[in-house]
Amino acid sequence: MAILDIKKYPARVLKHKAAHVAVIDDELQQLIDDMIETMYAAPGVGLAAPQVGISKRLAVIDISAREESVPLLVLINPVILKQEGEIEFEEGCLSVPDYTAKVKRAENLVLTAIDRSGNQVEIETGGLLSIAVQHEIDHLDGILFIDRLSPIKREFIKKKFKKKQKTAV
Ligand code: NI
Repeated sequence: MAILDIKKYPARVLKHKAAHVAVIDDELQQLIDDMIETMYAAPGVGLAAPQVGISKRLAVIDISAREESVPLLVLINPVILKQEGEIEFEEGCLSVPDYTAKVKRAENLVLTAIDRSGNQVEIETGGLLSIAVQHEIDHLDGILFIDRLSPIKREFIKKKFKKKQKTAV
């Protein structure tokens, strides 16, 4: 296993719509293991493949630090089938370090995905897991949580990160 480099905003790979996963082979299993290790090391509660520079529809989520009973989830080609309600939560992202903001999302979800054994699964979620799933699926569509903020807040964060890039050199 290996800890992968996490791409930070404004890396272009974060803006791309990721490709459908066609085969679950050894290479993908390796990527899944590395993503899990990278997520735990960060630490974070979720990580999508585009965040490590791989534009594929794959994400890992583990919110057990917040809700013990929820197992580690590996989602391949996830699709939201149903959503309802509204919930607001202070979100952060490993690709947008040192910034959090309140984002509104659906409270309850039904989704389908392929697990790492290749089985099609249907998952019903609510609350924090539902927020994490929507955040990670957004990554697969090239959307960051800051894209869901008001234009004023988005401009603020863009400026902040431009400044940071300049000073980092
Ligand atoms: Ni994120």
